[in-house]
Amino acid sequence: QTGFSTLDTGFVNTAATKSAITYIDGDQGILRYRGYPIEQVAANSTFLETAWLLIYGELPTADELASFDARIRRHTLLHEDLRRFFDALPASAHPMSVLSSAVGALSTFYEDTMDVHDPAKVEIQMIRLLAKLPVIAAYAHKKSLGQAFLYPDNSLSFVDNFLKLNFGTMAEPYVVNPVLSKALERLLILHEDHEQNASTSTVRLVGSTEANMYSSISAGISALYGPLHGGANEAVLKMLAEIRDSGQGVARFVERVKNKEEGVKLMGFGHRVYKNYDPRAKLVKESADEVLAALGVKDELLDIALELEQVALSDEYFISRRLYPNVDFYTGIIYKAMGFPPRMFTVLFAIGRLPGWIAHWREMNLDPSTKIGRPQQLYIGSPARDWPTER
Ligand code: SDX
Repeated sequence: QTGFSTLDTGFVNTAATKSAITYIDGDQGILRYRGYPIEQVAANSTFLETAWLLIYGELPTADELASFDARIRRHTLLHEDLRRFFDALPASAHPMSVLSSAVGALSTFYEDTMDVHDPAKVEIQMIRLLAKLPVIAAYAHKKSLGQAFLYPDNSLSFVDNFLKLNFGTMAEPYVVNPVLSKALERLLILHEDHEQNASTSTVRLVGSTEANMYSSISAGISALYGPLHGGANEAVLKMLAEIRDSGQGVARFVERVKNKEEGVKLMGFGHRVYKNYDPRAKLVKESADEVLAALGVKDELLDIALELEQVALSDEYFISRRLYPNVDFYTGIIYKAMGFPPRMFTVLFAIGRLPGWIAHWREMNLDPSTKIGRPQQLYIGSPARDWPTER
């Protein structure tokens, strides 16, 4: 099936990026990874199997997946100098700043493999990023807590190793909670790709200059950090807590949004493409109910979110602007129940999105017809004029 998944406006926009990875129909609320509906992928796959699908276009054989998983496990260790990199940063540093800096620094350790057109060198950059990003993320979390870093445990799965690095300590053995493991696997899958969103377009633009994969992904992490994009999941929790702590109530907050008081927005609502319910939001909301029940967590912020959604979905202001919950609306409530601090929420988004960034970067750089990116401009400035003689 071909067609502009986000630009179907009746004309052929030759400037549109062509990609075979993800298809979105914003009006129908459809999202497919290499043709597979997101609902089926989330119900049946694992993070690494989906990563392979996005990167190579087909589901892996059992041997391919086993070898992919094994190669990633064998690259989880950071260079000891990169571990010391964290000593230079303040504990107050936002984990997203730490992530983009540390990933950018990764390229300094691997001069020999930084090639954008050699499939073997592209592959090792990809394996290193998939293996090391979760470790860097967990170290950013531990740094903010002032806790000692653990070394990766290659006997664990991708998700379980990540959970242990975040919540394990040197003082006692860590037992992975299967509820957390299953829920996080599903959330990461839901974030793996989303076509030409701001951070993926950033990765493609930087990669089109033949910058290495590490530097391109570092730029994508910076783009994701913004509260209008990946940073929204952290902003949603701030918004829900403000509604709770201020005592203003949901109805009063919604009025402030509608009055556009000092730019107050309903964070986690609205989308550049989905003008219907974001299919991922439905799946995340299901997980929220399951995880909180399984963990025996009662979170009044979830109650506020549910009330906010009900009010917004029945209010003409939001209906007329086709504003529905997006992927970020409920994720923070689950991450909080798992024990992650709000400043780690967008880092979790980045770990999920990494396979999509890699798939797009690789699709572009292994295509010999790729040219350096140069977004079109419509000039609306002054007409030609002469320099003033009296100056
Ligand atoms: C992600 O692109 C992707 O695929 C991104 C993503 C991915 O997987 O990569 O899906 C992840 O980034 C999801 C979006 C997370 N961001 C937020 O939740 C932040 C809150 N949302 C808004 O900032 C906004 O909805 C955007 C940025 C997401 C989309 O903006 P649009 O499509 O450009 O909408 P717009 O700014 O043109 O707004 C249209 C109208 C305006 O009102 P009017 O000027 O017509 O009166 O809707 C209003 C806006 O003020 N509006 C909102 C609103 N979003 C839009 N009003 C209140 N709350 C909101 N959230």
